Amino acid sequence: MDAKKLAGEKAIEFIENDMIVGLGTGSTVHWSILKLGELVKQGLNIKGVPTSRQTEQLANELGIPLVGLSSIDQIDLTVDGADEANPDFELIKGGGGALLREKMVASISKRMIVVMDETKYVANLGKFPLPVEVTQFGWEMTCRQIKSLGCEPKLRLNNNLPFITDNGNYILDCDFGEIYDAENLNHTLNMIPGVVENGLFVNMTDTMVIGNRNGHVDILY
Ligand code: A5P
Repeated sequence: MDAKKLAGEKAIEFIENDMIVGLGTGSTVHWSILKLGELVKQGLNIKGVPTSRQTEQLANELGIPLVGLSSIDQIDLTVDGADEANPDFELIKGGGGALLREKMVASISKRMIVVMDETKYVANLGKFPLPVEVTQFGWEMTCRQIKSLGCEPKLRLNNNLPFITDNGNYILDCDFGEIYDAENLNHTLNMIPGVVENGLFVNMTDTMVIGNRNGHVDILY
C-alpha cells in the first residue's frame, strides 16, 4: 500500500464545491492534486492557490483553475504535506523548500489539512533538521546567529550549488535536536534579521490525515 497516496487522496473528501483551496507541495499532496484534477474534470468548481512553482505547473497541467494571493484574503481549506508532525499538531515543513509560500497560504486558511504517511507522525519534533529560509545577502552572518541558538545549520545544496527557493533565497537545514517549545523557537528564529521564514508550523493545522502501510487511514482532529 502506498501510504502517501492513501492519505493524499483521502483528504480530497474534505473539499466542497465553490471552495478556494490551498494546494501544498510535495510527494504526498501530489496525490491530492491528481485526485482534485479528476474531480475538476468531472465538474467540481474550485479555485486553487499554489504554494510553489512545481504545484502551479502540476495544477495547470491538470486544468485546475488557479488564483493568486493578490486577489484573495481568505482560503477555505488548504491541503499540504509535512516532514514531521507531533500530537500537538505542530509541524516541521520545508523539506521541499516551499515553506515560505506554504506558511503564507496556511496563515490565511480557515482550515488546514495535513497529509502524511505514518513515518512522519512523531512524539517530538526535531529528528528532521528544521529548514530555515534566509536571504542570500549576508547568509553567513545569519547562519552564525542561528547557530548561536544551539544548532548545526547546513546550507542546502543542489548539484553542489546552493539550493535556491522559488523566492530567490537560500535554505539552512538546522539540526536543533528534539524541539520542545516549537512556538518559542518559531518566534526566536523569525526575529533574526536575514531569516525570511522557518519551517515550524504552530497553531495552523486543524486535521491530520495519516496513511498507514497496512491500508488504514487515521484522521486526527
Ligand atoms: C515542501 O517544502 C514541504 O513542506 C513538504 O510539504 C513536505 O516536505 C512534505 O513532503 P512529502 O509529502 O514529499 O514528504
